[in-house]
Amino acid sequence: GKHQLLSVDQFTRESVEDLFRIADQMQPIARRQKVSRVLEGAVLGNLFFEASTRTRVSFGAAFCRLGGSVCDTTGFTFSSMAKGESIYDTSRVMSGYVDAMVIRHPEKGSVAEFAQATNIPVVNGGDGPGEHPSQALLDLYTILTEFSRLGKLLDGAHIALVGDLKYGRTVHSLIKLLALYRGLKFTLIAPRGLEMPDYLLEETGKQGHTIVQSSSLEEGLVGADVIYATRVQKERFAAEEIEGYTPDFQVNKAIVDKCCGPDVIVMHPLPRDSREGAHDLSVDLNHDTRLAIFRQTDNGIPVRMAIFAVLLGVEGLVQHSLRDVTW
Ligand code: CP
Repeated sequence: GKHQLLSVDQFTRESVEDLFRIADQMQPIARRQKVSRVLEGAVLGNLFFEASTRTRVSFGAAFCRLGGSVCDTTGFTFSSMAKGESIYDTSRVMSGYVDAMVIRHPEKGSVAEFAQATNIPVVNGGDGPGEHPSQALLDLYTILTEFSRLGKLLDGAHIALVGDLKYGRTVHSLIKLLALYRGLKFTLIAPRGLEMPDYLLEETGKQGHTIVQSSSLEEGLVGADVIYATRVQKERFAAEEIEGYTPDFQVNKAIVDKCCGPDVIVMHPLPRDSREGAHDLSVDLNHDTRLAIFRQTDNGIPVRMAIFAVLLGVEGLVQHSLRDVTW
């Protein structure tokens, strides 16, 4: 079959934990203690038709740190799609140039369309309001790593998802991945009009999890083990839709101190919006160890290395490929 990462629907609890064991093997490379050249000679095509810092650079860095090379194109204006070239033609052309592609595109389903036109591995780097599977994987990896440090189990945990749950593709992928575990309590805290889509509520409920919807941050966060804040995806809808989004939805130190214990983990996929009037995640938690946002971004490297290792079939070679750094 084809080697693709399009949706978290592809995973079972077992296969996701297999991937994380490979990510653990990648940690010495991510931490610059070891080097590997298992992807020597391979070329990655990074096709980003929407803004990105983390996903584009960390997929590129992960590929390079395994010995491969990266070709980048960013934005419609720098690709021939600006001249009307189709997804099908673009995918066919790129297949002759590179050995794998990571694609971000503003339309839901577009990355699957790229993948259909090629036999090389394709990774969904975010398809509009659809999915962002690699982000959800690194988020789950982070939660499991943090829980392991704290001596907690994910089964039975209380996860609070906050903010734009309608257009935030990361939370769509994340709730599906978390639902692979048992007996979770999800508190979904969103302003009116930006609630989690019904199909995801139904799917998650059917899998035996408890879902509480709340429009009050203060009520919803009580007793949470994980707070996952998100940015309002203003680029995806008209401003009138977010009338209900106020500073009351901001995750900050005061509310975390008030509602949660010392072991809570505060997460955000980033970018957080630092402009005036944005209320997703305060900077007043920056030096608080409960804030895991930069541990999330760090984990993006080993998890994305593991994704490439599996898609390119070299996961069995990683352990013996490790060499000491010479720099
Ligand atoms: N979290 C995330 O996808 O970040 P970028 O948009 O910077 O890639």
